[in-house]
Amino acid sequence: MPTTDTETGMAPDPTAERALLEQFDAIVERNDRVEPRDWMPEGYRKTLIRQVAQHAHSEIIGMQPEGNWISRAPSLRRKAILLAKVQDEAGHGLYLYSATETLGPSRQELTEMLLAGKQKYSSIFNYPTLSYADVGTIGWLVDGAAICNQVPLCRTSYGPYGRAMIRVCKEESFHQRQGYELLMTMMQGTDEQRAMVQESVNRFWWPALMMFGPPDDESPNTAQSMAWGIKRNTNDDLRQRFVDMSVPQAEALGVTLPDPELRWNEERGHHDFGQPDWDEFMQVVKGNGPCNAQRLAHRRRAHEDGAWVREAALAFADKSGGLDTPALVPREGYSTSETEEVR
Ligand code: ACO
Repeated sequence: MPTTDTETGMAPDPTAERALLEQFDAIVERNDRVEPRDWMPEGYRKTLIRQVAQHAHSEIIGMQPEGNWISRAPSLRRKAILLAKVQDEAGHGLYLYSATETLGPSRQELTEMLLAGKQKYSSIFNYPTLSYADVGTIGWLVDGAAICNQVPLCRTSYGPYGRAMIRVCKEESFHQRQGYELLMTMMQGTDEQRAMVQESVNRFWWPALMMFGPPDDESPNTAQSMAWGIKRNTNDDLRQRFVDMSVPQAEALGVTLPDPELRWNEERGHHDFGQPDWDEFMQVVKGNGPCNAQRLAHRRRAHEDGAWVREAALAFADKSGGLDTPALVPREGYSTSETEEVR
């Protein structure tokens, strides 16, 4: 691979740049991985920073709605499951911040962009968790949608992102099953518990469909992202896959999905379904959802409260001769700068 402009700090001449682009295109064409030190078009780098950072932020902000129920879980078993699950999400955020850092921006810069509203996080986490059934519904529908979206991302063209996705997807499968098991248990309980599950599913169904992004003909990024092998499927394809997967699961559970247009289409071999309220989606993405302000305020507070930990870790690293000293090599799942997320 020829020397990259990021290594020399100089723009390559047009012939060299053409050669670099051809090599990049060949990697994408062969479905190989692009690695951090490879030359890549600026647009590819920017698109990845946007998507992977947004994904990382989603994992971290996504700890809040469910974290809300840790202290109120109905049994020690449920509390232990929920704690482990929320902690997994912190881990996912950390892998994804690390993957984003390989593209240039530091973790600090990414956090600042989130807090300044310059980067987004998933719309789904701006909805409140009003009952304990929401813990199950988030596992079943929200993590189920996340799996549909993220399994193809294991084959994304950018190496660090794809490799992070493999582990994330394995853990998300557990999350989805724990949610389904929780709902199944409640559905075998009292009428009140069954009603609680149905009410929760009614609230989360449409926001879960929105997680896949706008319809294909209103998605400005899909075509280019697919040409670069960043995305492997369109938003509508994955939404359809999710609906087809969820319908039999809802039947087995004994809940109704709140869509009067939902029915099997023999000809297409898929379910037909109604459209979510896309105006609501746009409002949530713009920051006007039910919990946007609350989620960002909480994240800002956690970041500020963690300042002393970051300072102490850096001072310790300085005294110990840098972060590479054996004493500071992080254990798996633990790094010196993550304290704010795992509190
Ligand atoms: N929530 C917030 N913003 C969204 C959402 C959503 N559910 N869907 C789309 N958007 C934003 C996009 O970021 C884009 O914004 P921008 O161009 O202003 O930056 C805009 O809406 C238009 O959408 P698309 O052109 O379709 O954007 P994109 O090609 O990036 O596709 C998608 C969106 C499908 C979410 C893609 O980025 C993706 O697959 N991301 C990885 C998965 C992810 O982030 N999951 C996190 C939530 S789930 C969980 O972790 C539990």
